[in-house]
Amino acid sequence: MRIFLVGANGTIGGAVARELAQRHEVITAGRSSGDIRLDLADPASHAPAMAQAGKLDAVVSTAGNVHFGALAEMTEELWGIGLRDKLMGQVQLALAASRVLADGGSITLTSGILADTPIRYGASASLVNGGLEAFARAAAIELPRGIRINVVSPNVLAESMPSYAPYFRGFDAVPAAKVALAYSRSVEGAQTGQVYKVL
Ligand SMILES: NC(=O)c1ccc[n+]([C@@H]2O[C@H](COP(=O)([O-])OP(=O)(O)OC[C@H]3O[C@@H](n4cnc5c(N)ncnc54)[C@H](OP(=O)(O)O)[C@@H]3O)[C@@H](O)[C@H]2O)c1
Repeated sequence: MRIFLVGANGTIGGAVARELAQRHEVITAGRSSGDIRLDLADPASHAPAMAQAGKLDAVVSTAGNVHFGALAEMTEELWGIGLRDKLMGQVQLALAASRVLADGGSITLTSGILADTPIRYGASASLVNGGLEAFARAAAIELPRGIRINVVSPNVLAESMPSYAPYFRGFDAVPAAKVALAYSRSVEGAQTGQVYKVL
């Protein structure tokens, strides 16, 4: 397969690239890293980036920014970061992908454990992650040409704990290599409309 991976330079994306590159051709993309430049928050950049990548069998996003902050201090602008970047960025990417993917291709997006389990300062992440999972379930029944869509919802990563630990006390962090297997299930499996939780 030829797989377009947005966020390949990140903690999750790097592990997904290592897992999938063993069996497939991975074309990497990011705002400032990777083979091709694409900004999730700029939908106009999505289709040209995928056109540059050529024929694609799978599009995977392991990217998306949200603002972490106290609920009482969230402003419209701060909510907007997560809505524009991680939520609508991945939604728009999925829609652009559905127009160019090969028949039977797949789309895999990234949400996160905060969809189900809240933490202090994580309201925007919870909102966005829940939205992504609902979107994928809905999109799965309308996507054309046998194209599938799933979401991976990872627990906090062991590799991210040096900076995230104060927010995730008591969470049983998972290794990036284990999270990467869920992306393999989505891309190389047959299911659609699923949320793969890696706990
Ligand atoms: N780490 C965790 O513990 C964890 C747990 C659950 C869910 N998640 C979610 O998983 C996603 C990735 O997390 P991570 O820890 O792997 O992040 P990360 O290490 O910061 O990596 C993010 C990657 O995405 C790219 N990127 C960032 N913003 C982008 C944008 N607007 N458009 C295109 N590419 C962009 C970055 O490259 P450039 O800088 O070159 O753009 C980088 O390659 C996030 O949405 C996060 O909320 C993370």
